[in-house]
Amino acid sequence: MTGGAGAQRLAPAKVNLFLHVGDRRADGYHDLASLVIFADIADAITLRPSKALSLELSGPHASGLAVGPGNLVLKAARALESWATSHGHKTGPVTLTLEKNLPVASGIGGGSSDAAATLNLLCAHWALPVHDDDLQAIGLSLGADVPVCLRAAPTLMSGRGEILSPVSVLPQFSLVLVNPLVAVSTAAVFASLTARSGAFPRDLPAKQFGIRDFAGWLDQTINDLASPAKSLQPVIWQVEKALVSSDGCLVARMSGSGATCFGLYPTHDSATRAASLITEAHPHWWVRAGRMFANEGQRAPA
Ligand code: C5P
Repeated sequence: MTGGAGAQRLAPAKVNLFLHVGDRRADGYHDLASLVIFADIADAITLRPSKALSLELSGPHASGLAVGPGNLVLKAARALESWATSHGHKTGPVTLTLEKNLPVASGIGGGSSDAAATLNLLCAHWALPVHDDDLQAIGLSLGADVPVCLRAAPTLMSGRGEILSPVSVLPQFSLVLVNPLVAVSTAAVFASLTARSGAFPRDLPAKQFGIRDFAGWLDQTINDLASPAKSLQPVIWQVEKALVSSDGCLVARMSGSGATCFGLYPTHDSATRAASLITEAHPHWWVRAGRMFANEGQRAPA
């Protein structure tokens, strides 16, 4: 996506297909191994030049957020501005608009993806020659999931979230995301974690997966954060069950620290059918069908 007035960037939902947690580190974070993909269910960030850096909110989940300095979009903009200033590059004030379509604190990286989209958008708008490593470091300073969100493509993630390897063997699939509209704090889930499977990635095969083989492979993995999240918010059991028992669902599991769960489906028709039946049964839940996000807006390396 190019810079300029009215430039826009999508901030797609991040889905942890598995999430294995290891030891707590000296910095207070946990080592982890996670296979991450993105869905074409997204927030959007728009910018226009203005007199001072500011943020406006729109969209169905805007009321869950504040526009204060703690907002990750503003933090991302300030962090990049300060990198630019310290490296002698010019920036200019912008008004950013965040269209908040994804539920807040929901395990699909909404805030992290918003921050990453802001960094990518402003790099293009300000024409900054920032190297990928520097951008990843700025991202990591904002949150453990921001580096992977800067890529917004299938990735094996490890360390505290900063070691990233691209994954190219996944099949195309559709998915359904369901959130019961209860917010879950990532820090609280990590704090009540008792059993950890260890931060070991499962080796991916060298050849392309078929969808059913992939679902079978995924079944050998786990999200270690599901158990503590379910004890904090037992409704997550119900969400997972609604997905598992829907027609065509190949595998269902919680993403990140919850409460959003995903189901994988072999066709888009089966995913949209499952989404409408779950919506009918649970009209107060947030339910969306989508496909894997195809990242066509990847910034060129500096
Ligand atoms: O970096 P982020 O703000 O997303 O992390 C929120 C909280 O989740 C951290 O403060 C930490 O308690 C926990 N966390 C962790 N290990 C990770 C990622 C997050 O313990 N790898």
